[in-house]
Amino acid sequence: MGRGKQQQRKWRRKVVLICIGLLGVALIADLLWASSSSSTSLLLFPYKSSFNTNYSATKEVISNHNNNNKDKKDGVHGRILSKTFADLAGPQLQWQKMADSPVPRLDGAAIQINDQLFVFAGYGTIDLVHSHVDVYNFSSNTWGPSFDMPKQMAHSHLGMVTDGRFIYIVTGQYGPQCRGPTARTFVLDTLTKKWQDMPPLPLPRYAPATQLWRGRLHVMGGSKEDRYTPALDHWSIAVKDGTVLDKEWRTEIPIPRGGPHRSCIVVDDRLYVIGGQEGDFMAKPNSPIFKCSRRNEVVYSDVYMLDDEMKWKVLPPMPKPDSHIEFAWVVVNNSIKHPDTKKMILVGEVFQFQLDTLKWAVVGKLPYRVKTTLVGFWDGWLYFTSGQRDRGPDDPTPKKVIGEMWRTKLSLPLS
Ligand SMILES: *[C@@H]1O[C@H](CO)[C@@H](O)[C@H](O)[C@H]1NC(C)=O
Ligand SMILES: *[C@@H]1O[C@H](CO)[C@@H](O)[C@H](O)[C@H]1NC(C)=O
Ligand SMILES: *[C@@H]1O[C@H](CO)[C@@H](O)[C@H](O)[C@H]1NC(C)=O
Repeated sequence: MGRGKQQQRKWRRKVVLICIGLLGVALIADLLWASSSSSTSLLLFPYKSSFNTNYSATKEVISNHNNNNKDKKDGVHGRILSKTFADLAGPQLQWQKMADSPVPRLDGAAIQINDQLFVFAGYGTIDLVHSHVDVYNFSSNTWGPSFDMPKQMAHSHLGMVTDGRFIYIVTGQYGPQCRGPTARTFVLDTLTKKWQDMPPLPLPRYAPATQLWRGRLHVMGGSKEDRYTPALDHWSIAVKDGTVLDKEWRTEIPIPRGGPHRSCIVVDDRLYVIGGQEGDFMAKPNSPIFKCSRRNEVVYSDVYMLDDEMKWKVLPPMPKPDSHIEFAWVVVNNSIKHPDTKKMILVGEVFQFQLDTLKWAVVGKLPYRVKTTLVGFWDGWLYFTSGQRDRGPDDPTPKKVIGEMWRTKLSLPLS
């Protein structure tokens, strides 16, 4: 409805997509290590960290995030960041610390509906996963009562999207450490807090790009069942108001590059897939607890777009490679009336992608670098909560898993 008109208008407006980059951090770290001596410590948690390093696939790094090996393993002092992943200059934003979430979490998921941010699942530690939903109210700036997730729902690496009332949740990792994925999918009615099953995905995936587009729930890429191999598959199923209209998932045009942890958004009837990575931690063979062990990872900055033609188009890449950004973006000013900006937030930096000019910019910095953070935007404020933060301004390696909530008043340069 009115799509043509909308599209014309679109080119008159300024469309801005802002991404907060979170991942950069870890990445950085690795690069160095490859060349500096003792490598390991950067990852207390099995996430993100090796980017573009082509780092030998056998190294095992992970340990419990709360154990004390870190200092012992820390070989990172005095390193120099690779240019690819170095911090980018950007305006300092004034950040205000808000109430901590009820639990710290890494690799959780979040969906904003009006003034509520629903924050799902995630790791508390590498051996403990959450199975509930916390809810933040942007109007009262408080955390409300939590509620349970279905027992069969994945705890991390979820694909998730909302139509404004119903939240569609697909696949993901079931359990802690580097356990296997489930193909189970669910829909949550956020008004009644009732959950329903949906048909399972044809195959389970880790952190596939997930969006609603033209009446269908689309699920693309992610990692395959071994947690590592990038998947190119793209499936969709018709949905309306929380109800699935098809019997089964339909196969769609494969994505040009596979892998998990990308941002996926729909703006003006176009579907964008941004950043991500190939490879990830895998379960150590024969480990009874599916202990995570590090494998080679390549984080990338690719941007792809699907439109009417149903052919993937390549758009200008992000200012630096970025992954774990599936819930680190927001679309701002997404109304026909005040359509000035559309933003996506994603690594220490807040990136803006202006969709009319296809230009990327760094519009600010976070109070610290953080990965897998969860983002919302309300009443001019940009919020982020959770994830794994760095060790300090001079040390971009990952440290603590946080539940902190911060916000900043955003007024974006739109040129
Ligand atoms: C990684 O390094 C190996 C050996 O140096 C090389 O053969 C391979 O092509 C590299 N892979 C990538 C993705 O750069
Ligand atoms: C959020 O807080 C506002 C202000 O206190 C309140 O009016 C509103 O009902 C709350 N929203 C929900 C969903 O509880
Ligand atoms: C969004 O649009 C409104 C109205 O046009 C404007 O006042 C506001 O500054 C915009 N928000 C941002 C973050 O630029």
